[in-house]
Order: sequence, then structure tokens, then C-alpha cells
Amino acid sequence: MVEINGRTRTCGLIGNPVEHTMSPVIHNNLATATGENLTYVPFHVENGRLGDAVKGAFGLNILGMNVTVPYKSDVIPFLSDIDLLAKRIGAVNTLVRTEDGYKGYNTDMPGLLRAMKHDGVEVEGETIILLGAGGVARAVAMLLADNNAEKVYILNRTTDKAQKIADEINEYMGKEIIVAKKLDDYKTLPADKKYLAIQATSVGMYPKVDEAVIEDDDFYKMLHTGYDLIFNPLETKFMHLTKNNGANAFHGYRMLLYQGVIAYELWTNKSVPDELAEEVYAKMLAAMNA
Ligand code: ATR
Repeated sequence: MVEINGRTRTCGLIGNPVEHTMSPVIHNNLATATGENLTYVPFHVENGRLGDAVKGAFGLNILGMNVTVPYKSDVIPFLSDIDLLAKRIGAVNTLVRTEDGYKGYNTDMPGLLRAMKHDGVEVEGETIILLGAGGVARAVAMLLADNNAEKVYILNRTTDKAQKIADEINEYMGKEIIVAKKLDDYKTLPADKKYLAIQATSVGMYPKVDEAVIEDDDFYKMLHTGYDLIFNPLETKFMHLTKNNGANAFHGYRMLLYQGVIAYELWTNKSVPDELAEEVYAKMLAAMNA
């Protein structure tokens, strides 16, 4: 760890709760490895104190912040500026200090893209099934459209929510990339190809680890890859079903790594090579199992 002295810069995490966060593992290891005099600490911010927290952080010359549940949208009014992608997504997970205040970014989606690249999963030109239509799925749908997916079928229990996302993104893109469907509409999708499926619902997350949003083997037989955004557990039932039916399966723990890596790059203006990111990832895995 960095030896703290008079020149040490501080970054931190705002959230409630923050007690189980892996972000200190990511950033303190990156700081040590890149020789940055920087330390990273969790800040548990009570409901109603978010504005005080952001102002206080600025007053204390804090270099950058991550923002987690439940403040990713609520923090936006307290920023001096917001990056376009974060604005479109409506959620900020990274604050970068500027002269006037903090500028907000979303590194979750770029983090997912970098994790998928690492895992050899392509988006460009792909026909993709996206499971879920909550806040996370909406952001993923934007990421896929921005990165030239050929077509994205959003399957959701509540079809109206999927339709709303489809309408919004198709209008923004000026073409019909997103198609909204019911959960069991996978039965009607063209069967002449295999799909990448991205699992963006909360189903299967600890402690309900025995659930998957679709249980039918026939669905998983349609996939070449199943990408779950959940990382607790590291092997979800969705991943298990994916593998059992002969496709590649990935979890969301590398997305967590890379959202941190990209935030660190924004704070320090240094780029983190893949080998270093992998060293940090090994430490995250060890911390998870500790
Ligand atoms: P987040 O912000 O993490 O995306 P969210 O907005 O609550 O969370 O979205 C949760 C997603 O999981 C939604 O797509 C939700 O489906 P509905 O839109 O129909 O509510 C999906 N989800 C949660 N529990 C589910 C369940 N038991 N079966 C099917 N889908 C479920």
C-alpha cells in the first residue's frame, strides 16, 4: 500500500452501504503498482447527506469519487458537469475533480465493453438477446447500439418497459436496432443463427442463486455465449444452463474490475495495461474468497 504523507491524494466511494465494496482493492493496488501517491477509502453516506458529501469532498480537495447504490442518479444535481454518455444513461458512478466542482462519468458501461473485449466477446455486427429492461439493461442497450450491434432483442417480463427502451434508443439512433419482446418470445426468434445473450436482470443474484430468468434448455441451445452481469455468485444458474447447453459463459466480475480501471485512468491520466488489470483481478478474486 501507498505510504501516506503530506502529498497523498485521496479518492473514495460514496454509497450506502459501502462495507462490502471491492473498490479499495482495485484502486489501492493500482496506485501501488503505478507509483501514484493516492489512497482510496469508502465513505458511508447516510440518506439525505449526499449533497453535503459531494461539497465536503470538494472542500477537502478529494481527487475523485466513485458513486454506488443508491446515489448513481441522485448525485447528478450536485455535479458541475456531466459526460454525454453518463447523461444519456442517467447514472454516474465516477466523479472527476475539475476547477469548478466534479464532472460525472459512467464507467460501468465502458467497463462492460472492455471486459467483453478481454473475454473475446464481440458486439459489432452481432445479433444480441438482452434479458431485462431495468436501469442496467437500458444502459446496456445503449452501449450495444452505440457499438454497432446489428440487432438487439430485449426480452423482459414487463414488455412495456422493453418497448420504452426500444423506442427511445431507436429514435436516438435513427434506425430500428432494438426490438422489444416478451420473455418467452425467444421461441419466435430466427433459428438460423446463434446468439450472444446478456443477462441484465437481478434474477439469480445471491441469495436466490437457484433461479434463472429463463429455465428452458431450448433457449440456451440458441446461444453461442451467455454473459451474466451478476458476479455474486461467480457462477449463476444462467451461466450453468448456458454451459450445459454447449455455449461459453461469463460473469460480471471483470466488468467490476474494468469500471474501476477506467475510473482510475480518469483520475490519474495514466493508462492501465491489461497485464496489470489482470494482477488486480487476481487480488479481487482472493479478496472475494477471503
Ligand atoms: P436495475 O436497476 O439493477 O436494472 P431494476 O430496474 O429493478 O434493477 O430491473 C430489474 C430487472 O430484473 C427488470 O428487467 C425486471 O423485470 P420487470 O421489468 O418485469 O420487473 C427483472 N426481474 C426482476 N425479478 C424478476 C423475476 N422474478 N422474473 C423476471 N424478471 C425479473
